[in-house]
Amino acid sequence: MIVTDIGFGSIPNIEEPEFDYLKTIIYEKTGISLAPHKKIMLQSRLNVRLRQNQIPNFQEYVKKLKFEPIFFQNEILEIINRVTTNKTDFFRENHHFEYLKSTAFPLLEEKNKINVKKTIRIWCSASSTGEEPYSIAITAFDYFQGKYGWDIKIYASDIDTNVLSIADKGIYKEDRFVSINKDIIAKHFIQVNGEDGREFKIKPNIRELITFRKINLLETYPFSEKMDIVFCRNVIIYFDKPTQRKIFLNIEKIMHEESILIIGHSETLFGISDNFKFLGHTIYQRKNSTK
Ligand SMILES: C[S@@+](CC[C@H](N)C(=O)[O-])C[C@H]1O[C@@H](n2cnc3c(N)ncnc32)[C@H](O)[C@@H]1O
Repeated sequence: MIVTDIGFGSIPNIEEPEFDYLKTIIYEKTGISLAPHKKIMLQSRLNVRLRQNQIPNFQEYVKKLKFEPIFFQNEILEIINRVTTNKTDFFRENHHFEYLKSTAFPLLEEKNKINVKKTIRIWCSASSTGEEPYSIAITAFDYFQGKYGWDIKIYASDIDTNVLSIADKGIYKEDRFVSINKDIIAKHFIQVNGEDGREFKIKPNIRELITFRKINLLETYPFSEKMDIVFCRNVIIYFDKPTQRKIFLNIEKIMHEESILIIGHSETLFGISDNFKFLGHTIYQRKNSTK
């Protein structure tokens, strides 16, 4: 077994057979497909698990995963939480939020003129630490404020339980707000004293629009109602094409006809699904099934 000594003691390396095994279970459980050059990344993210479990090397770690079902069951959650990339921001790719205000919400208002229920359902399907669903909720709140009788619900989910618990609290350090308008901070956040200085907590009227829960995009989606808008941004980039196809077939099933799907700036449905009409700027509309 090869070990790397970086001066603080020996750090075990992942060898090919162990990397193959870990890569396979990560793919099966999350859809994330790890390229060969991600071996070092995986090694450094999982090293801490070896230390915490007092396991000397990756051979022993993989042996335990293979032959101890209880260990596997607990450890797979830890592995998932460590392999996900959670980069996000408030109002990231701001044109999507502008689109909500200028087009999606007015269209839903128009559609709901003949609908006594006035409901809007939005799913933010890879919500990471919460900045994305809170940006959606703030946009919706500001747009519908003062308009009578609207029932707005935002479902926000992620596979990673660590990021979900951060999102659920809705408290962020000051440096998370560099690119967001000061008026938005003043209107929708309360300043609180955190351990490392000033922090900002989302106000209850925004928080209560959102329900957070763990949902794996690879598994079934537990909704009893269909969505008007789905955000699935900056996540399919980690999946291979067959997985992307499967996911969009499933997403389509929980969307209303002509509802809106928003993906990330470097993502596309080209060659993945023909059931969405491209509206431009990574915004799509679910096609009407009778058309
Ligand atoms: C790069 S972040 C994107 C966050 C946000 N959508 C944005 O655009 O700012 C990707 C998120 O996808 C989540 N993710 C990865 N695989 C997933 C899966 N199979 N099901 C649900 N979420 C997943 C990760 O945990 C991570 O929080």
